[in-house]
Amino acid sequence: PHIVTANCNDCKYTDCCVVCPVECFYQDDTMLYIDPNDCIDCEACVPECPVEAIYSEGNTPAQWTSYVQLNKDKAEALKAVGGEAHITDKHDAKEGPGCKAKA
Ligand code: F3S
Repeated sequence: PHIVTANCNDCKYTDCCVVCPVECFYQDDTMLYIDPNDCIDCEACVPECPVEAIYSEGNTPAQWTSYVQLNKDKAEALKAVGGEAHITDKHDAKEGPGCKAKA
């Protein structure tokens, strides 16, 4: 599966979840997460992210490998919450102080 990593922190552009054919994105106040059980590795979301936050598990940069477990744990918890935690539409970008936006 694919995972969302550090660059999503405080950004939440949400361009990713819109194109996901299996609606496997979940959110909290900080960032989005992919449910690894539902992700089909289509890679549609990867080029959509303006800050290159999404990687395949096996191709995750070394400093962000902890996000593999984080996506699994957070997605599971947020899936249980349901409602707005399950995100499939674009929201206004958060672009907070931690956002490493390139554009
Ligand atoms: Fe985050 Fe990028 Fe999606 S900033 S919300 S992973 S488009």
